[in-house]
Amino acid sequence: MQPAGVEFTVPEGEPVMRAAQRLNLRWPNVCGGEAMCGVCFVRVLEGAEHTSEMKREERFRLDFVGKGKDDTARLACQLRITGPVTLFKRGVR
Ligand code: FES
Repeated sequence: MQPAGVEFTVPEGEPVMRAAQRLNLRWPNVCGGEAMCGVCFVRVLEGAEHTSEMKREERFRLDFVGKGKDDTARLACQLRITGPVTLFKRGVR
């Protein structure tokens, strides 16, 4: 996790943001994980092949907040992973 340099494990099926919060990491968001605010967006720097498919609600919200054209952008509250990834999100600590 950049730029904070934090490493953590995300259990299979659990969204990245929820796993981080369970470990008491602060993750910027407004809607609490409902794909409504877009504030949780993260950039996938490495390991995109280990990320879940993007569903319609996530695509819609990323488009709405102007991140739809960024192929690396995901909503951390929707993103699930199956292997090692490197993410970039300011404000996580
Ligand atoms: S927490 Fe609001 S969209 Fe992810």
